[in-house]
Amino acid sequence: MAVTAVCPGSFDPVTYGHLDVIRRAAAQFDRLVVACLRNAGKRPLLDVDERLALLEAVVVDLPNVEVAAFDGLLVDFCAERGATVIVKGLRAASDFEYELQMAQMNARLGNVETLFLTTSPVYSFLSSSLVKEVARFGGDVADFVPPIVAERLSRHR
Ligand code: PNS
Repeated sequence: MAVTAVCPGSFDPVTYGHLDVIRRAAAQFDRLVVACLRNAGKRPLLDVDERLALLEAVVVDLPNVEVAAFDGLLVDFCAERGATVIVKGLRAASDFEYELQMAQMNARLGNVETLFLTTSPVYSFLSSSLVKEVARFGGDVADFVPPIVAERLSRHR
């Protein structure tokens, strides 16, 4: 049976760290849906259409990956898409406590397993928030995000 997984996040913006997890997850499942939270609690820098457009551009070479926005509960989105697995990246032990709570809550709310991929060490320090801060002050983000994302961030200086 074909297995669909969901890789959720705010993606404000997508970084090479996200992309690393997306690529590695795509290699493990028949179909991967990258799910972009529409109304990210923190006020996002990029609106959801921009975040989706950037995601679509950076996964264009991955044929089993699709991109979609969601709001409401992640487990409801998984049910709508027929997904039985949520894939999350873990950068460090500090990520684990909150991710564990979310995984256990999602398991209680829906018929879905959460699988964790450990972030590749070269990206373990990366976060969208830090990338935005570096870009805001004119720093070079070329090592952290794909060129199309860097170009988009440069407009916010
Ligand atoms: O990139 P982020 O901000 O760490 O992603 C967090 C996200 C989108 C995975 C999480 O906030 C989420 O799943 N939100 C949807 C609402 C929901 O289902 N909440 C209950 C989960 S325990």
